[in-house]
Amino acid sequence: MTSCGSRVALIGVGNMGSAIADRLVASGLELTLWNRSASRIAPYARRGIHTATAVVQAIGAADVVVVCLLDDEATRDCLLNDAVGAVLSEKLLVQLSSVTAAQSQALARWVNSHDCGYVDGQIQDYPDTLRDARASIVCSGSNEAYRRAEPVLSATGSRLIHVGEQPGNAATLVNAQLSFCILAYVGALQGLALCQRAKVSPTTFVETLLLDYVRKGAFVEDLEKMMRDANGEQHPDSPGAALEVWQSAFQLVIGECQSARLEVSHLDAIDVLFGRAIGGGYGKADIAALIKSLTT
Ligand SMILES: NC(=O)c1ccc[n+]([C@@H]2O[C@H](COP(=O)([O-])OP(=O)(O)OC[C@H]3O[C@@H](n4cnc5c(N)ncnc54)[C@H](OP(=O)(O)O)[C@@H]3O)[C@@H](O)[C@H]2O)c1
Repeated sequence: MTSCGSRVALIGVGNMGSAIADRLVASGLELTLWNRSASRIAPYARRGIHTATAVVQAIGAADVVVVCLLDDEATRDCLLNDAVGAVLSEKLLVQLSSVTAAQSQALARWVNSHDCGYVDGQIQDYPDTLRDARASIVCSGSNEAYRRAEPVLSATGSRLIHVGEQPGNAATLVNAQLSFCILAYVGALQGLALCQRAKVSPTTFVETLLLDYVRKGAFVEDLEKMMRDANGEQHPDSPGAALEVWQSAFQLVIGECQSARLEVSHLDAIDVLFGRAIGGGYGKADIAALIKSLTT
């Protein structure tokens, strides 16, 4: 393998890709852009930045290929063909599109089979956050591949977090984080919907109750306790509520939402998880025991 060069191809110049392109252009790296819709790269061409009319042309002109497409399907549409395979040798491919771990590992196998290094990089933030150099990119891939990717990814101004050599680990971690964010947001929106229906102030709900709860620290302590449980570590018994008490509280939430004629099917599914864990003998255990319903 050659060492990481400064010639970069960026495949995909959508909302996130254009934020990456702007940072890479500002860093002075030699860049070639490709996008399916030419209109998105035309402004760059007018500024004298190299653009390509075919993926294979962009990749042929680069040492490091950064991919930022919609998803795995778009990635396979653009990359998995003989023409691209023939020009990948001794290059490095960095997959920044959001994918699953299995999709990342399958791409890594194909890329490696063409004598090309591979790094899975999952972006945790919005395009504007990346433009402001405040984004984080979680990366996985061999140490050698990561060393080659580092100067290019650093040029985006992002904080890099290398989580290990196994391709796909970055995707697992970022999808785990997304699971937290999305479910927490849905929970907050459910609360806001309840407030709207009951004509209770959303500001009181968010500022006085929710943020106060988060600031008091019990939430962070619960997260740390769950982490220790998931690691199989011993820790002192919690004086917090038992799982069966949590379920009663959750059933109150469902009742309140039903009275307010809100959608509750997703809440019923969570109630089933409580029932399974309690039926499995974890009724007196901490809320962390709910993980048993997810893993068994
Ligand atoms: N936006 C965010 O806040 C954010 C945050 C973290 C991660 N991400 C990830 O970043 C990636 C890009 O997101 P984005 O916000 O830039 O989305 P976007 O603005 O919709 O851009 C999608 C890109 O994929 C291209 N594309 C889609 N299907 C294609 C296909 N079949 N063949 C070729 N090109 C195809 C689009 O090309 P056209 O321009 O021709 O349509 C465009 O360049 C996604 O995986 C997303 O999950 C985004």
